[in-house]
Amino acid sequence: MLVRLLYASRADAVTPELIDAILARSRVTNPALGITGILCHGGDVFMQVLEGGREPVNDLYNRIVRDPRHQGVTLLHYAEIAERRFAGWTMGQVNLQRVNPSILLKYSERPVLDPYAVSGKVSMALLEELIATACIASRPS
Ligand SMILES: Cc1cc2nc3c(=O)[nH]c(=O)nc-3n(C[C@H](O)[C@H](O)[C@H](O)COP(=O)(O)O)c2cc1C
Repeated sequence: MLVRLLYASRADAVTPELIDAILARSRVTNPALGITGILCHGGDVFMQVLEGGREPVNDLYNRIVRDPRHQGVTLLHYAEIAERRFAGWTMGQVNLQRVNPSILLKYSERPVLDPYAVSGKVSMALLEELIATACIASRPS
């Protein structure tokens, strides 16, 4: 049984080294767990969607919540799903500072990533838009 989980968090500093470390870890661990997803970052905010079996997704989320490299981990959306939307990415990534601001403005008051200020549904819509507009990278950019 598949689930989709979306959360937001904040880091003191989202450095390229931190992104690289997270993505390197994801690309080693996630395939074995059958987990796919996308990691977005903009400013000091992360937003990550995880898809896969209920147990592996829940276990990974619990590990991520305990990770001291970020804080304020907030669950935005959790659902049982019939099919994956992010099957093509072991862990795709989007630097929202490099995305056309109009995509962010479509879903929020200002052209910044602020999943804390909008509903989980709106954040999922933003992710769908990022897929549709081919903004998701398979490697760090
Ligand atoms: C924003 C963020 C996203 C992460 N995403 C993943 C992920 O998709 N897969 C993964 O294995 N670890 C991810 N991690 C790392 C985990 O939090 C954790 O460090 C790693 O799974 C090792 O856990 P362990 O030390 O309990 O074995 C992420 C960490 C952060 C801060």
